[in-house]
Amino acid sequence: APRVFSGIKPSGGLTLGNYLGAIKRWVEMQGESYETIYCVVDLHAITVWQDPKELARATREVAAGMLASGIDPEKSVLFNQSQVAQHAELAWIFNCVARVGWMDRMTQFKEKAGKNAEKSSLGLYAYPSLMAADILLYHATHVPVGEDQKQHVELTRDIATKFNHDFGEEFFPLTEPVIEGPAMRVMNLRDGSKKMSKSGESDMERINMTDDADTIAKKFKKARTDPEPLPETLDGLKDRAEARNLVDIYASLSNQSSEAVIAEYAGAGWGKFKPALADLAVEKLSPIATDMKRLMDDPAEIDRLLGRGAERAREIASPILDRTHEIVGLIRS
Ligand code: TYM
Repeated sequence: APRVFSGIKPSGGLTLGNYLGAIKRWVEMQGESYETIYCVVDLHAITVWQDPKELARATREVAAGMLASGIDPEKSVLFNQSQVAQHAELAWIFNCVARVGWMDRMTQFKEKAGKNAEKSSLGLYAYPSLMAADILLYHATHVPVGEDQKQHVELTRDIATKFNHDFGEEFFPLTEPVIEGPAMRVMNLRDGSKKMSKSGESDMERINMTDDADTIAKKFKKARTDPEPLPETLDGLKDRAEARNLVDIYASLSNQSSEAVIAEYAGAGWGKFKPALADLAVEKLSPIATDMKRLMDDPAEIDRLLGRGAERAREIASPILDRTHEIVGLIRS
């Protein structure tokens, strides 16, 4: 059966980028045709320094965001990565399969490490190998992610291919990235050339999933745009990154294509479009924020759910890791 795995780093709170690029799709994939496994990847977060109290808080916040968005712990396995030790165990084996040259090509490492790569943690460098372990530990066939994770999923396929080849057995599947929809790369609201991220300098750059209605409306109204009205066709948004971003966000929030949004708002000025976007965003996001706050009031309940999810995750992972050990020649007695 097709199996979905995906994860979010608790290196801060959730943004609209995480929601539209990932969680919204995760919710849709729950149920009938897929088995779904969703993870708060705390071991990935610590590849850069995290204050311990803040890490624990952010782990619960990300879990609360998933639950408030509609991830149902009855339908999906939901847990935090560090409670399932098999992730780290398989990652070690993959560290011995993956090549240094492959890691050197990872654009996310280059961006995060910056000029001072020698000062970054060894974990940050090996990050994609742990991510491959997350996915392949469950023999996941599909990984719904935003555009920025595409290279990492491709590397996961390379690791699976090399492992299968080196040990002469088609054991790990070649996982498909699922990158579909109008908002797979949500941009910064103040600079359309940068991705919206948890860690940008100004809070006005991003929508946080915990923002209240007034804050959401204010951020969209102040979002940077050019002075031109919306064009007649999507083609007219070429070279208008900020405008394109707002149209894509509207499309995703209203479950339409960007073409359909342009057809509806052709010729409209920002004085019309931005308030419509702000209203739509408040309508869709503020119930999630309210529910997140309610869930965050009971951290023990979140921990209980994560613990139960981790138990289920271990049940799926254990036979796969046992077989991996056997294939590699590592004795388990
Ligand atoms: P992370 O925590 O940076 O982001 C979580 C998910 O949100 C998506 N995303 C975005 N999508 C569109 N526009 C944006 N501005 C935006 N910002 C973030 C990401 O693409 C991602 O899908 N390495 C991963 C976490 C991870 C993982 C995994 C994912 C670890 N193991 C296994 C899938 C499978 C990461 O740092 O995501």
